[in-house]
Parts: sequence; structure tokens; C-alpha cells
Amino acid sequence: MNAVLKVDGLRKEFGGLVAVDDISFEIGEGEFVGLIGPNGCGKSTTFNCISGLLRQTSGTVEMFGQDISDLRPDQIQNLGMTRTFQHTRLWRQMTVVENLMVPPRDQFGSNIIDKIRSAFAPYSNPAETERLEKAYTNLDQLEVPHMAPNLTSELSGGQSKLVDIGRSMMGDPQLLLLDEPVAGVAGPLAMKIFNNLREIVDQTGISVLIIEHNMDFILRQGVDRIIVMNEGEILMQGTPDEVRGNREVIEAYLGASDESQEEDG
Ligand SMILES: Nc1ncnc2c1ncn2[C@@H]1O[C@H](COP(=O)(O)OP(=O)(O)O)[C@@H](O)[C@H]1O
Ligand SMILES: [Mg+2]
Repeated sequence: MNAVLKVDGLRKEFGGLVAVDDISFEIGEGEFVGLIGPNGCGKSTTFNCISGLLRQTSGTVEMFGQDISDLRPDQIQNLGMTRTFQHTRLWRQMTVVENLMVPPRDQFGSNIIDKIRSAFAPYSNPAETERLEKAYTNLDQLEVPHMAPNLTSELSGGQSKLVDIGRSMMGDPQLLLLDEPVAGVAGPLAMKIFNNLREIVDQTGISVLIIEHNMDFILRQGVDRIIVMNEGEILMQGTPDEVRGNREVIEAYLGASDESQEEDG
């Protein structure tokens, strides 16, 4: 299995707080992996370091064998990694399809205004037409093409999460990092999102690393592997069956269950 992502000894301190404590793991090509752990255990911080938003205190991150530890978020994105945020960030005054059409790569570049403007010019040039088609393909894959003309400010929390995933796929990422894409999303829709992601992974061969804090839920969603974090460390990695049978994991969760149930939304 070729490693798309290789995290080695990643550590992040905030002042005296060790948020991520020397963790190491790999994500293979075409793998669908869950990253789980109680509230505050370091999951989002791990994403922030991998995607270049935060500089790690120590450790390295490689993508396809290239050291990306010191690259900026836009450079990392151009290598094929896209991430979403725990708190969805859509352009609220734009429609769903327009949100998908804002150029996903080089988005921190200086000519962002030109790019946004050209994205909404009449769809006369082939690149624009292609992007429009791609936007609809992604919405189709997520089974929400009917939402295309809606303003995103009119969407429910769950629908916004779906649009965010659709948008994150616009740049044809080879690695998708999703931070709690189903937190606060009703059960049936949450399961649908996971089913659709599974299909996307199987059809396209991309790799997906998905943060989720609900253990019971992730165990039933058909991910290939689960990485369990607790207090900044990796407690274990394994298949859902292996995680289900691990006493340490169960204990970490029993200890944190009150907190993690309150966190939804
Ligand atoms: N920018 C930051 N500055 C200071 N502390 C932070 C920052 N981001 C996260 N933390 C702390 O790091 C720990 C891990 O947070 P986080 O990675 O958000 O956890 P999770 O995503 O697993 O809920 C928490 O104690 C949190 O308060
Ligand atoms: Mg988080």
C-alpha cells in the first residue's frame, strides 16, 4: 500500500499545553480512515498541522513521499490535499452551485478577486463550463443536485455540511480531510453522507481521513480503519472490529462519554 500521507512524530504545544503528543500514522491510497477521540483530544489540531494552518512544534508530514512540513496551506492544497473545517465556512450570499464554482486551488493567491469574478462570468469559456459540470457531478454524487440554485444561507446545518463536502471535491483532491462533517447532522443524513463518501472513495480511489467524535456511530459506517486519539496521543489504530474489542478504547470513552454527548451541534 502506497502512503498518500505519512505523519511522523507530530507534536503541537500551545504554551504549556501539549495538544498533540508525538503521533505517527499513515494513510494509504484509496483508504477511508476515521480519526476519533473525545472532545479536546487533539483531532482538529492534527488537521491544522497537516494542512499547514499551524506550524507543528516538531515532527514531519509527508505527502506522496514529499516533505510538506514547512509548506503553506495553499501549496499543500496544490499538491492535492483539501480539508474542511469543523465549523462550515460557506459563502452565505451565494447559491450552492456558486459556492462550488469558486476556484478551489490557488485560493490564497493575490488575484483571488479576478478568479471569483471570472467564475461568475457567463459560462462561455470551456474551463467555466467544465467547472459547472463538475459542480453538478459533485452535487449528484452527494444526491443534492436540487439544492444547486438555493442560497446557502437558507440551508440547514446538515445540508451546509453536504455542500461543503461537494466544494472540497472540486479541486480533484487525492486526499480529503473532513473535520466532523456530520456533527449536528440528523442520523439518517449522517449515514447517507458516510455511504456517499464510501462510494466516492471506491469509485475514484482518493483517500479520506474523517474526524468524528461519536464512537458508536463511526464503528458502523464502513470505514477501512480507525485511528483512536486520547489526550493528544494515539491510543490505537485498527479495523472497526479491532477497535470495538479494545478495552483501553472503551475505557477512554466511558470516561469521556458525558462530555462528548454534549458537544454535538
Ligand atoms: N489555537 C489554539 N490555541 C490554544 N489552545 C488550543 C488551540 N487550538 C486547540 N487548542 C487546545 O488544544 C487541545 C486540542 O484541541 P482540538 O485539537 O481542537 O481537539 P478536538 O478537535 O479533538 O476536539 C484542546 O485543549 C484545545 O483547547
Ligand atoms: Mg475538533
